[in-house]
Amino acid sequence: MARTKFIAGNWKLNLTIAEGTALVKSLVVPAGVEAAVFPNALAVHAVAQAAAGSKVGVGGQNAHFEEKGAFTGEISTSFLKDAGAKYVILGHSERRQYFGDTDALINKRLKAVLAQGLTPILCIGETLAERDGGKLETVLKTQIEGALAGFTAEQLATLVVAYEPVWAIGTGRTASTAQAQEAHAFVRSVLRNVVGALAEKVRIQYGGSVKADNAKELLGQPDVDGALVGGASLKAADFNAILAAAG
Ligand code: 13P
Repeated sequence: MARTKFIAGNWKLNLTIAEGTALVKSLVVPAGVEAAVFPNALAVHAVAQAAAGSKVGVGGQNAHFEEKGAFTGEISTSFLKDAGAKYVILGHSERRQYFGDTDALINKRLKAVLAQGLTPILCIGETLAERDGGKLETVLKTQIEGALAGFTAEQLATLVVAYEPVWAIGTGRTASTAQAQEAHAFVRSVLRNVVGALAEKVRIQYGGSVKADNAKELLGQPDVDGALVGGASLKAADFNAILAAAG
């Protein structure tokens, strides 16, 4: 099954509107590669406008589960869509770690994302203690099943999953290609149980210290269908090198 490689840049809490719009205009996306960037919510609209007509899509880094109402400080999927977003990252480990995102909460957010016709990138991944404690598979299975509970395969047609081992995020310590492939193959096997044949179409991105010099090897693994890039997505030259590696 040929899956279109999908390279995404998660800018996290970095890059101003001026920096983000300049960066997105200097990205070069090879033929046959899907690309997106995830600016700070306040920059989504400007970056989406700057990217209009290019091959770079734009997305939100999180979304509230209700569309509107008395939810001070929240950002909803309808507002992201209005601002030009096409994608939403859900369940990033930083949200799980610092902001209390649980699988049940992510499940509710996912419902709102799909209701707006936005493409979800569901992040999953184990901590070092969980991996060392032999809990890798249990953690990944619990996160996938919890986030996807109650949805049909039809509803999840656009689903993207990002496997991001927490110990590899921002640490410079990348999973080995073998570790990545093993985890991705396991994720796909869990997806087969949850969404059946759709599992062959779901792109599974790897995230965690992806750089120009390790991207090609990681992306060469049979179940690694893209990358969710943090630090190396903040500079055009670095991110362009990763985009080129996917082409
Ligand atoms: P780094 O690429 O900086 O390790 O971040 C990965 C990540 O968390 C992407 O969502």
